[in-house]
Amino acid sequence: MTQKTARRRAAIGDVARLAGVSVGTVSNVLNRPDRVAPVTRERVEAAIAQLDFVPNGSARQLRVGTITTVGAIVLDIANPFFTDVARGIEERLSRDDYTLMVASSDEDPGRESRYLRLFEQHGVSGVIVVPATDDVDKLVTLHERGVGVVVLDRPSPVAELSSVAVDDVLGGELAAQHLIAQGHTRLAFLNGPHTIRQCADRYTGVVRALTAAGLDPGSALDELTVPLNADGGETGTRSLLERPDAHRPTAVFCVNDLVALGAVRALRRAGLSVPDDVAIVGYDDVAFAAELATPLTSVRQPTHELGLRAADLLLRGPDAEPEHVVFQPTLVVRESSTA
Ligand code: RIB
Repeated sequence: MTQKTARRRAAIGDVARLAGVSVGTVSNVLNRPDRVAPVTRERVEAAIAQLDFVPNGSARQLRVGTITTVGAIVLDIANPFFTDVARGIEERLSRDDYTLMVASSDEDPGRESRYLRLFEQHGVSGVIVVPATDDVDKLVTLHERGVGVVVLDRPSPVAELSSVAVDDVLGGELAAQHLIAQGHTRLAFLNGPHTIRQCADRYTGVVRALTAAGLDPGSALDELTVPLNADGGETGTRSLLERPDAHRPTAVFCVNDLVALGAVRALRRAGLSVPDDVAIVGYDDVAFAAELATPLTSVRQPTHELGLRAADLLLRGPDAEPEHVVFQPTLVVRESSTA
């Protein structure tokens, strides 16, 4: 990785010097523009634009000693996996009097960029992000401007950003190995888009398990891309049930427990039994997994620890050596997949 010279973020004093005014005048232009003569305001605004100056709220917070803030962007806060991760982040941050702001990118890079810009304008001390794609250029820019950055829930695509993840290839492998061991030779995988690293890795693990068992993924695996929620699981499973009997899978691995919830719902509505007609395995092992009428087999992620560790890495400060933490998933076997 070539060593990039870190670009210092322009400070309010740089703007004042370039515009030939006092720092107080720059502050007035930002906060009370009606108090500044138009010609002076225009000169200051030109200097702000030229220096790409972003008002840094955390400097103001630090000056007045208020609590500093961390921004987190997850894929979907309605997914209990991310809610549990956020709890872990919050628990660690609160020990050092930091507050947490959480936003959902909905897997949309545009939304992710908008929240990153809003967090920076808000003057956050750092960001913890589950990236929507492999493009982390905006995170690297923030890092170079002295904002702490931790990539969460997937390994970082670049060495200079710390990350906290789970071995999702192993997670997919554990799920498929379990279903193969139960005698299934036709598996379906209700997955998210492979642009999401977690989804791509889980697919790799499933293929690795099928191949190791002597099964051809081309015929033994039916992967469908669905929305990462219960409705996605229900519509995906309904599609699978329309397959001719000879091609209908006898087991469905779901990319997360919400998708599995929808899959179970679709099977129930079709009058089919879980696991006797179709076995189901989820991922995350969120709280409701064990409480379903047919308790759900799921690949457990150390969700709370993911959040704790991401916040811990962030609190070391933006100049700390990057660390790349990878937790191991485990399979929790319940009634939804065992005869
Ligand atoms: O958002 C999709 C999934 O990725 C979540 O359910 C969780 O498993 C995360 O890793």
